[in-house]
Amino acid sequence: MEDLVEGLELPMRILITGPMGYVGPVLTRHLRHRFPQAELIGFDSAFFAHNLTGTKRLPEALLNRMYFGDIRNFPAELLDGVDVVVHLAAISNDPMGKEFESVTEDINEKASIALAQKAEERGVGRFVFASSCSIYGAASGGPRRESDPLNPLTAYARSKVAMENALRSSNADKMTVTCLRFATACGMSDRLRLDLVLNDFVAGALATGEISVLSDGTPWRPLIDVSDMARAIEWAIGRSADQGSRFLVVNAGSNAGNYQVRDLAEVVAAELPGTKVNINREAPPDLRSYQVDFSLFAELAPAHLPAVPLAQSVRNLRGGLSQIGFSDRNFRASSLMRLKTLNDHIAEGRLSRDLRWQ
Ligand SMILES: NC(=O)c1ccc[n+]([C@@H]2O[C@H](COP(=O)([O-])OP(=O)(O)OC[C@H]3O[C@@H](n4cnc5c(N)ncnc54)[C@H](O)[C@@H]3O)[C@@H](O)[C@H]2O)c1
Repeated sequence: MEDLVEGLELPMRILITGPMGYVGPVLTRHLRHRFPQAELIGFDSAFFAHNLTGTKRLPEALLNRMYFGDIRNFPAELLDGVDVVVHLAAISNDPMGKEFESVTEDINEKASIALAQKAEERGVGRFVFASSCSIYGAASGGPRRESDPLNPLTAYARSKVAMENALRSSNADKMTVTCLRFATACGMSDRLRLDLVLNDFVAGALATGEISVLSDGTPWRPLIDVSDMARAIEWAIGRSADQGSRFLVVNAGSNAGNYQVRDLAEVVAAELPGTKVNINREAPPDLRSYQVDFSLFAELAPAHLPAVPLAQSVRNLRGGLSQIGFSDRNFRASSLMRLKTLNDHIAEGRLSRDLRWQ
């Protein structure tokens, strides 16, 4: 445990947007452990607040303060005295981005840019943005580096590119900005999601004894355990402008974490003996395929590199799912899919189509 971060005074004040999602509970616990004296503040619209998996304690109880609200109407005064903003809040995957395209642009792009501007104006020293390797899109010809051309194929990926570009071109000369281009997340969380490739495979194997690969299995995906995402964010919180540059984009993951989807299925099957792997050889090609070069992250953050092997992520998921008695064969239509949760809120009149509480 430590509390000292170079360049920041104690008690350090960190505002996390979107802590009530999949990554947030793992991040909150990690930061609470690493920075026991820090003041941790959450801000979330609570779309998924009730989707707890296997915990009896609200993960946000580890925060010092929690605000409920929409970043489209973010009250700038919450930023007063804040040292670091960790910006997770987003419409956070391709299926939701497709269904709620203009909302995705409003939240992930417009409101996110406005949040960063307010942060700079209010004297926030560091801004950490959760970007995504999915912005490499369809990328043949070897692992992609940060300076390589981007090829976003979805509304979600385009929104992440737009936010990165806005942060790069803003004349924020006081705020240190880190855009972490995360690999695809996997692993256990107090708000587990099954709309992620590895989590889906483990759930399928446990509930049905089968993994049903929706593609022909050839696309490349880099993976990172959610707890390693938290460690990367810890590094970015502590990063000063002389480590890298004041504005920095960095791929967050590890070179060993690049897998073809069929290999992911094989790793899960090896951990859960007896699992059958069904590859859909008739599937139309999944264009989203990218290998990513994580050398820059390895160079800049040697003490915060991913530490959880893929097989361990699988075992953690197996343990977590067993603990909640998971056996839902129809889990791809369950509330563990984020899009389903949003659509249920809308169908039952709680959310409007533009994702505002009614
Ligand atoms: N999970 C991944 O594979 C992955 C990979 C790369 C990057 N990321 C990024 O990391 C971040 C966190 O991901 P996650 O998996 O925890 O997402 P999530 O969807 O589980 O959580 C997002 C949180 O943001 C909140 N939110 C959404 N819109 C909001 C608004 N308008 N105002 C306030 N709060 C709002 C939601 O209520 C939710 O709690 C996202 O920005 C995501 O794009 C995730």
